[in-house]
Amino acid sequence: MHRENPTAMNFFSRKTAHADYYELLPRIHSFLKPRTYVEIGIRQGHSLRLAKTAASVGIDPAPALEHKPRRGTRIFQMTSDEFFARHNLAEELGRQTVDLAFVDGMHLFEFALRDFANLEKFCHRDSTILVHDCYPVDRASAARERTTQIWSGDVWKLIVCLKKYRPDLRLCTVDVPPTGLGIIRRLDPRSTTLTSRLDGLYEEFVPYDYGQMEPDKARQLNRVENRWNEIQSLLSAPSIAAT
Ligand SMILES: C[S@@+](CC[C@H](N)C(=O)[O-])C[C@H]1O[C@@H](n2cnc3c(N)ncnc32)[C@H](O)[C@@H]1O
Repeated sequence: MHRENPTAMNFFSRKTAHADYYELLPRIHSFLKPRTYVEIGIRQGHSLRLAKTAASVGIDPAPALEHKPRRGTRIFQMTSDEFFARHNLAEELGRQTVDLAFVDGMHLFEFALRDFANLEKFCHRDSTILVHDCYPVDRASAARERTTQIWSGDVWKLIVCLKKYRPDLRLCTVDVPPTGLGIIRRLDPRSTTLTSRLDGLYEEFVPYDYGQMEPDKARQLNRVENRWNEIQSLLSAPSIAAT
């Protein structure tokens, strides 16, 4: 979610009827207590600072951190594609796998897909990958071209794509303001299902229209309410039951 202009900032600073994702993320961190954390798209570092892990990696071609990163946090000033081409994530985490990751970089389907596939290679069965912007509010803000203040892009297509091609994953989308948070579990670092057919997935999902998903949005995106008790039980299970 892009939020640099004052109008968008007002949206975030006003009290909303429901807690937004900056209230949900710390709960997830406190509950999962990850040893390692990776964030793609860190900007000012608001979500990165929520990680209390001994080892964290933040990746962004244009970081604008407002605070010094916590001890154990390493910042890589580059795109996520560059990072995965040039670095071994496990090595950068002190030869450890990823416990928790947050994808919030380029808000286009193909970038989110590659970010997910690249991260999964360094995960284990009980890791969790969170993906921002998976429950769009309307067609305009969910489009590939940015024409709105609040812009989630077409990251939501990642959920549709994973449901079709990776039924082995357990995933849901929390309907948390402003544009939802995907939670993906039961990861398989050995899976090549996505990486072996990237071009075909781009061809299928880049033109995929919002109207194909919207009439059945909650089911298509495995929507769950933003109720902590429910989210906690989903995170407690070794894998998340699809809804
Ligand atoms: C919405 S901001 C991230 C906000 C941050 N996660 C937070 O909640 O505090 C998106 C960030 O993604 C970064 N970005 C854009 N393209 C990227 C890419 N290809 N790889 C990694 N980061 C990217 C942008 O520079 C921007 O800082």
